[in-house]
Amino acid sequence: MKLLVTGACGHIGSFIIEKVAKIKRIKEVILIDNFNSHRHSTLFNLKKNKKFSFYNIDLSKTSLKKFKKVEYLIHCASLTNAQGSFSIKKEMYRNNIACMKNVINYCIKNKSKLIHISSTSVYGKQVKIVDEDDESLLKPQSPYAEIKLQEEKMLKKNKNKIKFMSFRFGTIAGVSKGIRFHTAINKFCFNASLNEKILVYKTAYNQYRPYLSLKDAFKVFKFCIDKDVFNNDIYNALSGNYTVKQIIKMIKKYKKKTSVKFVKTKIMNQLSYHVDNQKLSNLGLKLNSSIQNDIKDTIKLLSGLKY
Ligand SMILES: NC(=O)c1ccc[n+]([C@@H]2O[C@H](COP(=O)([O-])OP(=O)(O)OC[C@H]3O[C@@H](n4cnc5c(N)ncnc54)[C@H](O)[C@@H]3O)[C@@H](O)[C@H]2O)c1
Repeated sequence: MKLLVTGACGHIGSFIIEKVAKIKRIKEVILIDNFNSHRHSTLFNLKKNKKFSFYNIDLSKTSLKKFKKVEYLIHCASLTNAQGSFSIKKEMYRNNIACMKNVINYCIKNKSKLIHISSTSVYGKQVKIVDEDDESLLKPQSPYAEIKLQEEKMLKKNKNKIKFMSFRFGTIAGVSKGIRFHTAINKFCFNASLNEKILVYKTAYNQYRPYLSLKDAFKVFKFCIDKDVFNNDIYNALSGNYTVKQIIKMIKKYKKKTSVKFVKTKIMNQLSYHVDNQKLSNLGLKLNSSIQNDIKDTIKLLSGLKY
């Protein structure tokens, strides 16, 4: 069977490339990226266990029609910096919505089953635990999150024509060839490794946010494809909810001198929400990979630096 991965050179896409051998049903993998994030090295030394091919395509402008008989499509191609999305709002809307339209049209025409990645950032500041099915909890606070919600709506609108799963991923932690360092845990590990102070928005210190280990993210993809579960629904996906204080404590286990500087500017999303994983568990998939281990692996990447 054939799998097509868009945004294959990104943080999540490159992890899929690395682990896809574990999905036995997949024999051939088509990789698409436009190198927007310049992570060419994600394509170096690919394992020979699957038939990989790569195409340098801007998905917001070019149709995928030349690709035939694709059973599954995992859509990772996006501009993804939530914090930076305020300054590139127009371009982010243009790129991400055009990519999504292209992918949906392709999946409809080719009967390909789609895995879409949304984000837990679609929830605004909440006072209670948030689940997927209460629409009153949807309060996106950035253009990035607004676009994610719009993508979900596009899927719902086409639900009679397409088979899909949409996952609201927590912020990713963990190491891949295409690792990015502008999301919370990775950025903090990077700061600690460079002996820099970790800048934390004051009120964020004790607020909970959802995080997803890359290992669990892959489990989600493998689960859908192995079991062919595509029920046109939306699921939260997270390994756990943690406060910044708890994350810093985990980092300190490996970098004892780590220090925090409280700032007024928002260096990370200042919102707090406790996200519920029950719906995915009820489907038969329990996510429990260790964020502590992801932190250990991330810090190990830069362990050659001594101060
Ligand atoms: N990383 C996280 O913490 C996180 C959390 C929740 C949801 N997500 C979502 O998961 C998906 C993948 O995230 P990621 O962390 O791997 O992002 P990433 O930024 O690391 O990778 C995205 C990839 O998409 C490519 N791309 C962008 N526009 C393209 C276009 N027009 N045509 C072809 N390729 C294009 C980029 O070059 C990049 O390699 C995104 O939809 C993101 O919003 C990520």
